[in-house]
Amino acid sequence: MMFFESKVALVTASGAGIGRAIAQRLAAEGAAVVVSDVNDEAGAATVALIVEAGGNAAYQRADVSSPEDVTALVEFAVETFGGLHLAVNNAGIGSMPKELQDLTLPEWDRTINVTLRGTFLSMQAEISHFRANGGGNIVNIASIAGIRATPQLTPYGAAKHGVISLTRSAALENAQQGIRVNAVAPGAIETASLAELPEEAKAGYAAEVPMHRLGKPEEIANAVVWLLSEESSFVTGVVLPVDGGTNA
Ligand SMILES: NC(=O)c1ccc[n+]([C@@H]2O[C@H](COP(=O)([O-])OP(=O)(O)OC[C@H]3O[C@@H](n4cnc5c(N)ncnc54)[C@H](O)[C@@H]3O)[C@@H](O)[C@H]2O)c1
Repeated sequence: MMFFESKVALVTASGAGIGRAIAQRLAAEGAAVVVSDVNDEAGAATVALIVEAGGNAAYQRADVSSPEDVTALVEFAVETFGGLHLAVNNAGIGSMPKELQDLTLPEWDRTINVTLRGTFLSMQAEISHFRANGGGNIVNIASIAGIRATPQLTPYGAAKHGVISLTRSAALENAQQGIRVNAVAPGAIETASLAELPEEAKAGYAAEVPMHRLGKPEEIANAVVWLLSEESSFVTGVVLPVDGGTNA
């Protein structure tokens, strides 16, 4: 049985990493998937992987920090696949390790604009569509940095705490509208953004995980599938850590 036959899904920042794994998995579960990114080549590559595997996907460029882009993204889903039922707000960018007092305003704004403002704008466009069309289901990709302190990564931590707050507030605002809103909080996952960090930092991440390993993007996709499916029909406003035990 496939979970998402006849459903349309969008995944922001699905040209790489966790977003790509989520897009691939949703397509494998029968959804028509709108792949979106600011990197057109990467987005096209995700679509190609999905189509090669027998799935249905189309690419639309969207910088999530742009209200015009996210509005156009929802319209693209409707025009291309006839609707929108599932949304995964995955776009988020970190900041270089630095203490709070040393951050420049552009560094702060860059992370906040994509990670927090982008999630807000995406949710606004999606919820407007869902309210007018009989409901829908949202999963935001937060981070354990949204639950715990993040010394040296304060813009990222502040943005992810904000993503969790948006998740909880929107879940309650929409609890009677047929719209569920949940978040997955990944721990350290093996993707490109982690690969950019210094070796020392990477080894440190794995050592801190109770399971003594980094997670895989597919392990995040598994949690997203559950939250988007009817298997979690009484679940809204939760933040599910997928982190090898780190948060515990
Ligand atoms: N990798 C981890 O260990 C980890 C841990 C916790 C949370 N997360 C979160 O998971 C999500 C995905 O992270 P990842 O590691 O897979 O990232 P990644 O770096 O592998 O991929 C990020 C993608 O985002 C795209 N992107 C960048 N700016 C964008 C924008 N303004 N609009 C749309 N797309 C944009 C990039 O082009 C790229 O394709 C992020 O929200 C991240 O904060 C990751």
